[in-house]
Amino acid sequence: MKLVFATNNQHKLDEVRKITAGYTEIVNLSDINCHDDIPENADTLEGNALQKARYIKEHFGYDCFADDTGLEVEALDNAPGVYSARYAGPGHDSEANMNKLLHEMEGQTNRKARFRTVIALILDGKEYLFEGIVNGTIIQEKRGGSGFGYDPLFVPDNYSQTFAEMGNDIKNQISHRAEAVKKLTAFLSNYTL
Ligand code: IMP
Repeated sequence: MKLVFATNNQHKLDEVRKITAGYTEIVNLSDINCHDDIPENADTLEGNALQKARYIKEHFGYDCFADDTGLEVEALDNAPGVYSARYAGPGHDSEANMNKLLHEMEGQTNRKARFRTVIALILDGKEYLFEGIVNGTIIQEKRGGSGFGYDPLFVPDNYSQTFAEMGNDIKNQISHRAEAVKKLTAFLSNYTL
């Protein structure tokens, strides 16, 4: 089976391809010659994932899936959530986003947070949603150099290293995206027309 993953983010593509290897061939947006700025302005992760997948289906005709992820911090009423990429402004600057988060969390004793990924799949005219969650803690200062986004500030439950310290091999086995992709893969491997 061949599916379009509505992303140009190489980190995500690598992560997803590792999990789906052998089941499904995943191509990305450049592979289908899509260089559009795909709208992503819903106010939920589910809404954004569906919006991206529907755009590809509508404009390019391919069955596809799209994801959206947010960091939900309990003490901040689940912010930055769907606004995680542009928390500190439209520049999608991870350093600025992390600095803003640390600032907002100053003096907070409840440091509980979770990453949540939603994947929307469009297949044979039907829409499906898959969710992956990893719970953890926001630490007081950045640690580690791998990964991306908020990884240096997030220690998943039952680990002592941040996502950015543990390296992609371990992160990719336990991450929110991994959990959502595993659900997607399980669904696809059982799928019959
Ligand atoms: P996206 O929906 O996957 O593009 O994620 C939105 C934003 O959430 C990203 O720009 C990152 O700031 C953050 N994010 C998503 N996934 C991760 C992750 O695995 N680690 C750290 N930050 C992430």
